[in-house]
Amino acid sequence: MSKEHLFLRALRGEQVERPPVWLMRQAGRYLPEYMELKRKYDFFTRIRTPELATEITIQPIDIVGPDAAILFSDILVIPEAMGVEVQMIAGKGPYLPKTMQTKEDIDNLRVKDAEFDLQYVYDAIRLTKQELAGRVPLIGFAGAPFTIFCYMVEGEGSKTFSKAKSLCFAEPALAKSLLSKITDVTIAYLLKKIEAGADAIQVFDSWSGLLSPHDFMEFSFPYLQRIHDAIRSKVPVILFPKGSDYALKELNDLNPAAIGLDWTISPKKARQLAPDVTLQGNFDPSKLYMSREEIMRQTTDMIHQFGMQRYVANLGHGMMPTIPVDSVKAFIEAVKSYEEL
Ligand code: CP3
Repeated sequence: MSKEHLFLRALRGEQVERPPVWLMRQAGRYLPEYMELKRKYDFFTRIRTPELATEITIQPIDIVGPDAAILFSDILVIPEAMGVEVQMIAGKGPYLPKTMQTKEDIDNLRVKDAEFDLQYVYDAIRLTKQELAGRVPLIGFAGAPFTIFCYMVEGEGSKTFSKAKSLCFAEPALAKSLLSKITDVTIAYLLKKIEAGADAIQVFDSWSGLLSPHDFMEFSFPYLQRIHDAIRSKVPVILFPKGSDYALKELNDLNPAAIGLDWTISPKKARQLAPDVTLQGNFDPSKLYMSREEIMRQTTDMIHQFGMQRYVANLGHGMMPTIPVDSVKAFIEAVKSYEEL
């Protein structure tokens, strides 16, 4: 039954009557209902308690009505399962006190069976699927190895991730051994998420845009490819290498179900560079501060430009906490009422 959903049809390249829509970070702080749970439970309690993760995942489905749910969780559960402490500092973001610097640090990481530490994620998927009862498909996700590597080496968010990048360039073999370990754990983890019921997988490479085209092919692409190869026969895969439009042709040639785009590329150019896949994106989330009329007008225009087939309407990156709920509704409404001219 869920196989008939608009979102999955668009990912498979089948004809649709309108494009499906969802928003990155659709579960989160812009929703008063989320803030209420945030006041009661800390971040890790929210993601580790299947009942809470399920409730937060379904909140946007009930309130703003996208065509897919994305499990409330975080990409940094992977370093945690590998034995690295991850803290979430209020108002600042993730903090990993022990960073990866030496061969010994990397040798000490847990790889084998690490995915079994994340049972709470699989339980949350099973419960969410049960509660969704086929209303919309459920997206599972992971960080791309390069993005996880950035946090494990840098220890915190950064505009440049210069410590992480310098490890790539100064000690490429060491960097690749860490990227490879992250990839192994991520594959085992995603296979278990799929087994638990995830209908599609998005891989977030939030920081790949910090790499040059050449370095992307060396430090990100091979690991994305390994993940894609391991799961592509099971569910549709969306690759979102933010800021790496320069690699669209190579990504297209991997033939994933879809590629996510940020707002720095025009729909026309993206179609030219990636003609064989479904495209997802790419509304600038800051545009959700415009008036309702302007949001609807520009969203409709974005769909015109992408064309409504092989397209998933979304933002070019995650929602910000201060975006008004009504603006999110306007975005979704514009997609749902879209009619081809
Ligand atoms: O999209 C969704 O609605 C699903 C949930 C989701 C979260 N994180 C919840 C979350 C997803 C898909 C992620 C992925 C994630 N996490 C990424 C990749 C996507 C991207 O934005 O590029 C990254 C880089 C992370 C790491 C991370 N987790 C950061 C940098 C932060 C702090 C940033 C911030 O906005 O405060 C988090 C915390 C986090 N993950 C929050 C949420 C809702 C905020 C926690 C809170 O204060 O409530």
